[in-house]
Amino acid sequence: MTQLEKMKNMVANKNETLLVLTDAGLFRDNRWLVKNIDLTLNRGEIVTLIGYNGSGKTTTAKLALGILKPDAGKLWRKPNLIMGYVPQKLSIDKSMPISVSRLIKLTCAINQEEIKRLLHDVGVGHLEHAQIAYLSGGELQRVLLARAIARRPDILVLDEPLQGIDFRGESELYELITNLRAKLNCAILLISHDLHIVMASTDRVICLNGHICCSGTPEVVAASDVYNELLGGKPNFAIYHHQHNHRHDLEGHIYPDKVVPQPLKHKQQKTEEKTSHA
Ligand SMILES: Nc1ncnc2c1ncn2[C@@H]1O[C@H](COP(=O)(O)OP(=O)(O)O)[C@@H](O)[C@H]1O
Ligand SMILES: [Mg+2]
Repeated sequence: MTQLEKMKNMVANKNETLLVLTDAGLFRDNRWLVKNIDLTLNRGEIVTLIGYNGSGKTTTAKLALGILKPDAGKLWRKPNLIMGYVPQKLSIDKSMPISVSRLIKLTCAINQEEIKRLLHDVGVGHLEHAQIAYLSGGELQRVLLARAIARRPDILVLDEPLQGIDFRGESELYELITNLRAKLNCAILLISHDLHIVMASTDRVICLNGHICCSGTPEVVAASDVYNELLGGKPNFAIYHHQHNHRHDLEGHIYPDKVVPQPLKHKQQKTEEKTSHA
């Protein structure tokens, strides 16, 4: 297929519906963990799920992934859909020696050259032979991301990939996610517990609190009364833009003309908070 044909295909597929959760709910321990969840994922879209801890984000992702079967409503997925999943928690037995390459090979038939390229693409090319037990939180997140994209998924689900990542790493990851969408021509379901920042390339935000409180473009959610009530009347929402200048990768290289994080709008306070932790 020529490059032009590929691009035409991508445009044609852009609105292809991949997954629909309709009025879905999960009932456990005598209560609804989530209820009335409507979620549609179309190819090429980035949907960000936000909500406090315990608001049902992971549960919703697992319903979409088919890991949990809904007790109410239903899940429709395009036949032969491939899902890539970076879970929020991965319990690793640190006494078990397993290298980065081995971990990726466990879930995907892939050769060493491809592993090398994938790891390089997610910024951890130097960790091909590293032991999983010794990786930092941010490094492990990227390795798990490489493992998820190795399957060339139609939908990539990232459950709180920003956990344990500092300000600089956060902006790099946002850029990486945006690039992955273009490269894989997939849909991305991104979960964040940060109610205040949503990456600029998010097409839709869904704000969850056991049910969907509000949803829409980042601008619509930011202006929503329900959302602002959820924040306790202290609206402080930013859409996370990048301004390109230069970029560092995890291997210590500096690249010109790339990303420097620049949260915009009413974001001064949050910026200072984040920077002081970096
Ligand atoms: N398998 C389960 N059985 C019973 N309760 C659960 C189960 N999984 C999660 N919960 C509860 O459901 C709620 C939502 O959890 P979760 O989806 O993990 O929230 P979030 O990802 O937004 O932090 C929490 O109160 C959690 O304790
Ligand atoms: Mg969770």
